[in-house]
Amino acid sequence: KAVSIIGAPLDLGQTRRGVDMGPSAIRYAGLEERLAEIGYAVTERGNVAAPEPEALTVRDARARYLPEILDACAALAALVEGAVREGARPLVLGGDHAIALGTLAGLAAAAGQPGGVIWIDAHGDLNTPETSPSGNVHGMPLAAALGRAPEWFRHDGLALPAVTPSRVALVGIRSLDPAERAYLRDADIRVFTMSDIDRIGIERAVREALDHVAGPGFVHASLDLDSLDPEVAPGVGTPVRGGLTYREAHLACELIAESELLGSLEVVEANPILDRENTTALTAVELVASALGKTIL
Ligand code: ARG
Ligand code: MN
Ligand code: MN
Ligand code: MN
Repeated sequence: KAVSIIGAPLDLGQTRRGVDMGPSAIRYAGLEERLAEIGYAVTERGNVAAPEPEALTVRDARARYLPEILDACAALAALVEGAVREGARPLVLGGDHAIALGTLAGLAAAAGQPGGVIWIDAHGDLNTPETSPSGNVHGMPLAAALGRAPEWFRHDGLALPAVTPSRVALVGIRSLDPAERAYLRDADIRVFTMSDIDRIGIERAVREALDHVAGPGFVHASLDLDSLDPEVAPGVGTPVRGGLTYREAHLACELIAESELLGSLEVVEANPILDRENTTALTAVELVASALGKTIL
């Protein structure tokens, strides 16, 4: 059992500083020790380079800092691909959710084909530069990985599409923009909103989500910490009330581990500036341990 930890301290996908410190906060919360405890051989790959917004200028307000974000994603993709080729499971630490484009492109490059993803998030992250109400690229990575708006996201070292549209499941959803809703009406994507989870329970939701994303290539889990309720995970830049409880999130991660489908994992949007005593990063570490097979007994 081998895991490669890769940090992506990118905060260009949204406007609040601090999410670039997410990888440090999660490491400081004891990630490596937790994974060693449950029997993993852990390799630390350090961080990919990510520029500071203060040193940049916005060229297009429809997708702020997109060129720099694509550069960072291409660097991340290369590290992720390398980890898979060495037989390790990549564990990517964000950074804002824009980095998922790099993770998924790296996984697709290693597999030689697109794969499936379970996307645990309050948001759909299915905007394109044309539909985004904010211009924040962290609201676009799933659309980009699906190969939508290809002219915007084309970049050397980013294999797109990285994800098969019929192998995406969204879990924890409670905030969608109009164009995301319209896209989801026709797409073969399984969506488990918070309302669905209240009705059918997190266990059935995650089992059905995993069934939907299973298949060739790879299966990845992308965990946006804003899927959790802000009372549990206050250290995120775009909190939405009414999220997953601590227990629901843990069970989701335990079911992911039990399925043995997962080849990789990422945890994003931890912002220690907005957090209370690093509790969000501590929760992230616990969730990662559960998703990688930690059991109580
Ligand atoms: N839908 C909103 C937008 O496009 C919010 C996206 C939040 N994304 C995230 N990864 N937290 O700006
Ligand atoms: Mn930075
Ligand atoms: Mn989100
Ligand atoms: Mn997200």
